[in-house]
Amino acid sequence: MTRERDTGAGGSGGAEGPADSARDLASRRGMETSVYQPAEDSELLARAAVGHAEGRTLEVGTGSGWVAEQVASETAASVVASDVNPGACRQARERAERLRAESESGTGAESERTDAGFEVVRADLLAPFADEVFDTVLFNPPYLPTDPDNEWDDWMETALSGGESGRELIEPFLDDVGRVLAPGGEVLLLVSSLTGYEDVLAYAEARGFSHEVAVQESYPFETLSVVVFSQN
Ligand SMILES: C[S@@+](CC[C@H](N)C(=O)[O-])C[C@H]1O[C@@H](n2cnc3c(N)ncnc32)[C@H](O)[C@@H]1O
Repeated sequence: MTRERDTGAGGSGGAEGPADSARDLASRRGMETSVYQPAEDSELLARAAVGHAEGRTLEVGTGSGWVAEQVASETAASVVASDVNPGACRQARERAERLRAESESGTGAESERTDAGFEVVRADLLAPFADEVFDTVLFNPPYLPTDPDNEWDDWMETALSGGESGRELIEPFLDDVGRVLAPGGEVLLLVSSLTGYEDVLAYAEARGFSHEVAVQESYPFETLSVVVFSQN
């Protein structure tokens, strides 16, 4: 999502607050406002993930489940998708069931696998997951820097807002993700220039991660990167 363009965070100076304009965007696109639907950032993460994901793969914050579906249908990885939003879990689970049914019957255009599908669990970040169980962890986090006065406290805010710094979900994620990674595992994190790209890299480096950029795209008001982190 080129979210900053839509929220006015790029300094448009309008009276409209971030919360209002994100909602307006959702309604202009005919999007429902309770579950984040695939956008530019989702596509970028999926593109990088299809090239990298292997073994046991976790997508944190799966939203509609679209990224998890791409990985489950286009790679040999076994995929678990999680979200804190129960509506997102429901939608992702429906998507997973549809994919599984299509792949078992051979009717799915999406996949050549006959066992494509993925598990969906409700979780707050990485809390319920055991140590060293995932080979790949994916996350397109809520990253919009949000003025506390403009927060509106619903599931779309949970999907979009990274708090005042934009990094209020990214930092606890980076604090804990090393714990769930199997030896040699990788993290693919979507990072926006709005969030403070260098700040995210420095935070990860201080927690023992080295990085490389898998894909990067520039939009009029932000640059989105998918950064691959590996433990040193
Ligand atoms: C930007 S959306 C990305 C959705 C989807 N992965 C995609 O790329 O289209 C961020 C997602 O993270 C979820 N989320 C926010 N806070 C979370 C948390 N503490 N634990 C798990 N998921 C969370 C939101 O509900 C939302 O679905």
